[in-house]
Amino acid sequence: MTLPRHVAIIMDGNGRWAAARGLPRHAGHKEGVEPVRMCVRESLRNGIGALTLFAFSSENWGRPGEEVSALMGLFVEALDSQIDELHENGVRVAFIGDRQGFPERLRARMAAAEARTAHNAKLRLQVAVGYGGRWDILNATRQLAERCASGAMRPADLSEDDLSAALQLSGLPDPDLFIRTGGERRISNFLLWNLAYTELYFCADLWPDFNADGFGAALQDFASRQRRFGLTGAQSGEGA
Ligand code: IPE
Ligand code: IPE
Ligand code: MG
Repeated sequence: MTLPRHVAIIMDGNGRWAAARGLPRHAGHKEGVEPVRMCVRESLRNGIGALTLFAFSSENWGRPGEEVSALMGLFVEALDSQIDELHENGVRVAFIGDRQGFPERLRARMAAAEARTAHNAKLRLQVAVGYGGRWDILNATRQLAERCASGAMRPADLSEDDLSAALQLSGLPDPDLFIRTGGERRISNFLLWNLAYTELYFCADLWPDFNADGFGAALQDFASRQRRFGLTGAQSGEGA
């Protein structure tokens, strides 16, 4: 079976999971930690080299203050409870996104987790927090513009590789497989540049219900896709 090298996931549906049980939204977020563990476990088991999870978008800052602070608390808690096991399992953790606005105790933990796991090589786990695809491209563009303004680079020489290298996922292959749980069929400002040729998979499971069978079904579906990258089927080696 052809496996993706990099899987990117929008973990959506926590609020609806909680509402269906008459619980507050944060109860759904809490319940969403276990499927994260499952995805890490399944990625390690299948030898998938990179996993990128969308945990909090730049737009999610606009949610009620109570929900935002519950999420910040949960991130701290989840990092504290998971980091030892992640490290023991050879997972290299990185956070992508704009960290401005995050509480200092969370920023300190994120930096510590990155430093501690920096030399691990089994799985690269990117957690997108305060992330927006448009912010990512703007941020990269600013860096390139500064290099041009300083004379280190000429605008005419800028390449797609230069922009890719200035983005948050710099150095990682583009995601091969994108999964969104929760039933919505949209990208919601996730990895806009990097998803150009990613296979998209949408499933109705609410995130807290997403399990190893669901992850396996997404991998199966991916294996059945014919990726053409703009060429003909014959050119890409998969028939007409
Ligand atoms: C995804 O679940 C988690 C975050 C965006 C932080 P939601 O909170 O969006 O859940 P729904 O979509 O309202 O059910
Ligand atoms: C996308 O989910 C962001 C995360 C899962 C972190 P949203 O729930 O914020 O997306 P929309 O609002 O349905 O587009
Ligand atoms: Mg949602």
